[in-house]
Amino acid sequence: MVSLQLQDDIVDLRSHCTRARPLALSGFQATDWAPSSWQQRVALQQPGYEDAEALTKTITELAQQPTLVTAHEVVQLKLALAQAQEGRSFLLQGGDCAESFSECTTSIITDRLQLLLQMGLILMHGLQQPVIRVGRFAGQYAKPRSADTESRNGVTLPVFRGDSVNRPEFNEAARRPDPRRLLEAHARSALTMNMTRALAENGLAHVYQPSGWDLDWLVHSPLESKHRRLIGSISESLQFIRSLGETDADNEVRTAFHTSHEALLLHYEEAQTRYVPGHGSWFNLSTHFPWIGVRTAALEGAHVEYLRGISNPVAVKVGPSTQADELLRLIDTLNPHNEPGRLTLITRMGHPHIAQALPALLRAVSREGQRVLWICDPMHGNTETLASGYKTRRFDNILGELDQAFDIHAAHGTHLGGVHLEISGDDVTECLGGARALNEEQLSRNYKSCVDPRLNREQSLELALMVVHKAQRRTG
Ligand code: PEP
Ligand code: CO
Repeated sequence: MVSLQLQDDIVDLRSHCTRARPLALSGFQATDWAPSSWQQRVALQQPGYEDAEALTKTITELAQQPTLVTAHEVVQLKLALAQAQEGRSFLLQGGDCAESFSECTTSIITDRLQLLLQMGLILMHGLQQPVIRVGRFAGQYAKPRSADTESRNGVTLPVFRGDSVNRPEFNEAARRPDPRRLLEAHARSALTMNMTRALAENGLAHVYQPSGWDLDWLVHSPLESKHRRLIGSISESLQFIRSLGETDADNEVRTAFHTSHEALLLHYEEAQTRYVPGHGSWFNLSTHFPWIGVRTAALEGAHVEYLRGISNPVAVKVGPSTQADELLRLIDTLNPHNEPGRLTLITRMGHPHIAQALPALLRAVSREGQRVLWICDPMHGNTETLASGYKTRRFDNILGELDQAFDIHAAHGTHLGGVHLEISGDDVTECLGGARALNEEQLSRNYKSCVDPRLNREQSLELALMVVHKAQRRTG
């Protein structure tokens, strides 16, 4: 592993560690931790950079560059997540599996945000709760992979690890990890963040007029009339708010927008980690809400070590092979003071496994009185590769896992407080099924993802509507 000589000012900042004091709002600062202490542990899924000097130079530069979010926003999100934990709000976390540099465009950012706002509105109205909207973007440029290399026709090259590491084309130059790409990832994250903030603030008022949504696909749904009734009642509610004299109904439904990404490349995350004197603790300020994936969630690993010391709300993916005792140790490490809003567990079991795998985890966490926010990622346990080579997911399996998650939580007296989705605001053809019954032959029409398949705009709206119908059935 390359060890880094960081800039003096950052080293100075580290010395604040010993002076850290606990603060109610931002949690408790571990005193045996520093932003670089992960370097003493085994760090999986890191690119094999050939040029250690170039990496050091890049990270030094990144450590001097502005961060993308503020500690105040991060703490506000933590408080909001504490509400979701209590069953008083619902988390909608969604975006690309992997962002790409070429898709950092006005239309892609706008369409994705618009979709998340529409889904948020459906959920808010249908669940009768505030919805916390968190994008899976403005930093989602690095991917964990199952193998380090890929072979084609007898040629073996490093695997594509996301645009912040290398390029997807299959040739040696493209696949060589280049540390300078970290700077580009940071710059594009800042561009995305800037546009998102501007749009969320006042650029998408038309989203709050469902009569203007493009809903042609509804005629293909067997539940068309139910869906239309629900959308009609959202329109009526918004109309009612306006009739109360609000000039902008969106003022009523607007809440802050937050970002998240997988904290995978730890040199990058470390360089954007800052000591915030007002809170007496360290924050990752490249995003509001970092998470770690199933491949990097080992208790003794570098990723858990990094996550344990920052004051952000953090999340961990939990798969079907996770054992209850192992999960409890992870919770103890990441949230030793049982702080509300601090820890989210994102279960991603797969529709055939959730009924068997989830209950023991729910029972163990409840028995120990651990405060966590449970959310469901119905995407990553339901990925399959077709004979044609396309990686896909079936709408019915995604919905099936989500449906079961709601029921299993209800049966165990726990609360499913959110959903984590891979979605695109575009008309991509990556997941099968949905109202238009997208089939295998149609996947090639607009399959764009370099990594995992996403629900398209219509499938995403349909999923949000189905969640609401399900919730309404549950509450009678
Ligand atoms: C992801 O969220 O894109 C991912 C790789 O998830 P997981 O760690 O759950 O496989
Ligand atoms: Co993915």
